[in-house]
Amino acid sequence: MNTRVLTGITTSGTPHLGNYVGAIRPAILSSQRDNVDAFFFLADYHALIKCEDPERIARSRLEIAATWLAAGLDPERVTFYRQSDIPEIPELSWMLTCVTAKGLMNRAHAYKASVDQNTAKGVDEDDGVNMGLFSYPILMAADILMFNAHDVPVGRDQTQHLEMARDIAQRFNHLYGRGREFFVLPAAVIADDVATLPGLDGRKMSKSYNNTVPLFEGGHKALKAAVARIVTDSRGPGEPKDAEASHLYMIFRAFAQPAEAAAFRAELMAGMGWGDAKQRLCDRVELEIGPMRDRYEDLIAHPAHIEEVLQAGAHKARAIATPFIQELRNAVGLRTLACTTTAKVSKVGKGGAKGARYVSFRDEDGQFRFRLLSVEGEELFCSIAYADPKQAGAVMGRIKQSDADALIQLEGETGFVITVAGQVVARGVPCASPTERDVCLEALRVALQPQEA
Ligand code: TRP
Repeated sequence: MNTRVLTGITTSGTPHLGNYVGAIRPAILSSQRDNVDAFFFLADYHALIKCEDPERIARSRLEIAATWLAAGLDPERVTFYRQSDIPEIPELSWMLTCVTAKGLMNRAHAYKASVDQNTAKGVDEDDGVNMGLFSYPILMAADILMFNAHDVPVGRDQTQHLEMARDIAQRFNHLYGRGREFFVLPAAVIADDVATLPGLDGRKMSKSYNNTVPLFEGGHKALKAAVARIVTDSRGPGEPKDAEASHLYMIFRAFAQPAEAAAFRAELMAGMGWGDAKQRLCDRVELEIGPMRDRYEDLIAHPAHIEEVLQAGAHKARAIATPFIQELRNAVGLRTLACTTTAKVSKVGKGGAKGARYVSFRDEDGQFRFRLLSVEGEELFCSIAYADPKQAGAVMGRIKQSDADALIQLEGETGFVITVAGQVVARGVPCASPTERDVCLEALRVALQPQEA
């Protein structure tokens, strides 16, 4: 089996160079490996937690989707979707919420940081904290567990969330798995070789510090203007520079080949002026992202095309999520009532058809039919109509003497019929999904076992 790599990007901002170098570029590279199935998604439900500006959310979804596609994400290869297009995710999130200890969430760093700030301000400790923030790690666990991701590339600040996802997965497996591991335990992948870029002021480039260099937005002009604002020391042209301590060099290195970076470093040490260095940095960054920006601008101008790509991605993702959530619903007991019997029936064990029974009756048209009911009286199948009750009885006799496997014939994805000598003699209860049908068939096999005298 391929390694499933999954990561999400919160849609509350405009991508900057730091996002590109730290997350987007490495993720796209990893998605190109042969043994990897990549799942990249827009965490737009997460965005609602910290952003109450609908226009900002809407714009950010567009920009981030366009950014990933422009940067080379291949939607044929990667499952690329929006969290909010997968209703199974919030459904799973609720199931997980119900097995997550509140105490675990009390310990989440992001929540604790808010509490600490409030305490320092002398206001109520939960001031301004919404339940989305409090339960943030559970929704994130649902994102990851829904697709049974093995590896989750994230920033170091997210490691605790991954630990929590594992905790929650284990708890669910333990409570409901009955020997089956529903969820793979995911691992955080924190790349050491990926650069954290300094921002304009030298602190980590981050939207929250308002010190970012935009990736595509604003065009080359905005890139140039931002680079011009990166702080340097006051050494003039001709004076040797401390390259290792220079933010310009750190950013340059993240874009250049080692030999180019070494040359840039040597020139700085030989006294290249900051103005020239900034120009060189701009040119080098432009070389990589310029062609992407052209694609970006084209994509942004055709949002309907992006929408289509995301819809196709949602379709791919739901082909996995829909049957899986059915299994999980079954596991927690949210089953169709027609199949409520299974757990008990299967516990009856050998010779356990005791109590399963046939019921013969006359239908509205005066024809004769029979049903097979499970131990708990749930219908498993109903026969076709016979004009003669003896005929119906004879068919019932044949069913009793036959092997379940010879009798059951699957029909489509969710149906089944009972056949005797190649003739359909009864129809199974309608099931909502293949998984539900499996559950019914299991009950049926038990009910069809030869009964003890
Ligand atoms: N919490 C992540 C961040 O802020 C975004 C995210 C949401 C995510 N769900 C995820 C990342 C699932 C990885 C996997 O960066």
